[in-house]
Amino acid sequence: MTVALDKLKYEIKDPALATLGKQRIEWAGREMPVLRQIRDRFAQEKPFAGIRLVACCHVTTETAHLAIALKAGGADAVLIASNPLSTQDDVAASLVVDHGIPVFAIKGEDNATYNKHVQIALDHRPNIIIDDGSDVVATLIQERQNQIADLIGTTEETTTGIVRLQAMLKDGVLTFPAVNVNDADTKHFFDNRYGTGQSTLDGIVRATNILLAGKTVIVAGYGWCGKGTALRARGMGANVIVTEIDPIKAIEAVMDGFRVLPMAEAAPQGDIFITVTGNKHVIRSEHFDVMKDGAIVCNSGHFDIEIDLKSLKSKAAEVKNVRPFTEQYKLNSGKSVVVIGEGRLVNLAAAEGHPSAVMDMSFANQAMACEYLVKNKGKLAPGLHSIPVEVDQEIARLKLQAMGISVDTLTPEQVEYINSWTSGT
Ligand code: ADE
Repeated sequence: MTVALDKLKYEIKDPALATLGKQRIEWAGREMPVLRQIRDRFAQEKPFAGIRLVACCHVTTETAHLAIALKAGGADAVLIASNPLSTQDDVAASLVVDHGIPVFAIKGEDNATYNKHVQIALDHRPNIIIDDGSDVVATLIQERQNQIADLIGTTEETTTGIVRLQAMLKDGVLTFPAVNVNDADTKHFFDNRYGTGQSTLDGIVRATNILLAGKTVIVAGYGWCGKGTALRARGMGANVIVTEIDPIKAIEAVMDGFRVLPMAEAAPQGDIFITVTGNKHVIRSEHFDVMKDGAIVCNSGHFDIEIDLKSLKSKAAEVKNVRPFTEQYKLNSGKSVVVIGEGRLVNLAAAEGHPSAVMDMSFANQAMACEYLVKNKGKLAPGLHSIPVEVDQEIARLKLQAMGISVDTLTPEQVEYINSWTSGT
C-alpha cells in the first residue's frame, strides 16, 4: 500500500526515507513472532474498530510493528515520539508512506516541537493512550480534563511512567484505568534486564568505540535495568561498581558479586558512568569535580534528569562535539568529561534501543493491554491495574513456542500434591 500523502497529517523528517525504513522494519519483524501472531488475530477480530488511539513511544522498527498490529486491529492510531532523540526517521517515514499511520516525530526535535506533538496527539481525542514515560497522560490531566470522558484507559510500560502514575494516584488525579505493562513478568524480566543491558552498552560502544574490558564502570541504580547493565558490563570484562539508595538492592548487588559504593567514593574511580535510577541529579557538581580526566558519562533512565548537565556546563570552558551524539566538556580545571546523547537515553540516542526479540514481548503486552482495556470498557476501576497473569503466561508460552523450546507439564500426581497441605515430612 502506498498512501496518498496529501490526505494524511504528519510531521516527519523526510518521506523519501521510507524505502530504507520499510527494509529495516521487515528485518526487525524476523525477531517478533509473538506480536506477529497477535497482529494476525487482530486483523481477523478487529478489536479496535472505532477506537481512537495515541501511542507515545520511541519511534523504532519495533514500535512500527506495534503500530501496524494496532492498525490491523482497526485502531485509528496516531504515533508520536516519547523522546526527542530516539526517533528513527526512516521508520517514521515508512509508517506514513507505506502504512498510512500519522506520525509526528523527528530525531533531534527540540522540546517545543516535542510538546507540540503531545498536543497534536491529544487533539486526536484518544480513547486509548499507550504512554512511555507518562507525558501524554500528565498533559491530559493538567490541560485537557474535558477529554477524560473520551478515555477508556491508558497503558504504561516504563518504570519511570509507573512511578509517575503512582504519584498521580496519590494526588487523586488518576481518575481512569491505567494498565501497568511494566509489571508483567514478560516485560520487566526481559526488556528492562536484557534489553537495557545490551542496548546501553551498544549505545556507549557505537558512540565512543571504547574497549570495555578492563574499564571501571559505575552503574547507578540496581533495579531491573541496572541489574542488566551491570551484568552485561561485567560480561564484557569491565570492573563494575554499583551505587544504590535502597539497602535491599544494595545487598543484592553485593551478593551478585559487585562492589557497592556511594557515588562520592565511586566518582574518582570510574572510567564510564551509567545512570539508571529514574531520579534526579544522581551525578552532580561534586562528582564531576573528582572524576578522572576523560571520564565518560551517560544515562539509560527514561528522562534526561539523572546527570546534572547544567552544573557541568557551568564548569566548562568549551563544549566540543567529538563524535556523533558525543560531547567533550573541557573543564576550567583542565580535565575533561565526555557526555553521550545529551544525557538522554543512551541506548536510543546513540543506538537503536532494545533488540526486537525482547520488544516482541513488551509490545505483545502493550497490544494485549489495549485489547484488555477495550474488552473491559467501563468495568475497570480508576487507578493502576496489572496485566492479567493468564495474558503474561500466554505471551511466555507463545515466545517459547516461537523459540522452539518445550517445557514439562505437571503430572496428575504433582497437581494433587501442590494443591494439598496434608502431606509433609
Ligand atoms: N524502548 C527501549 N528500546 C526500545 C525499542 N527498540 N523500541 C521502542 N521502545 C524501546
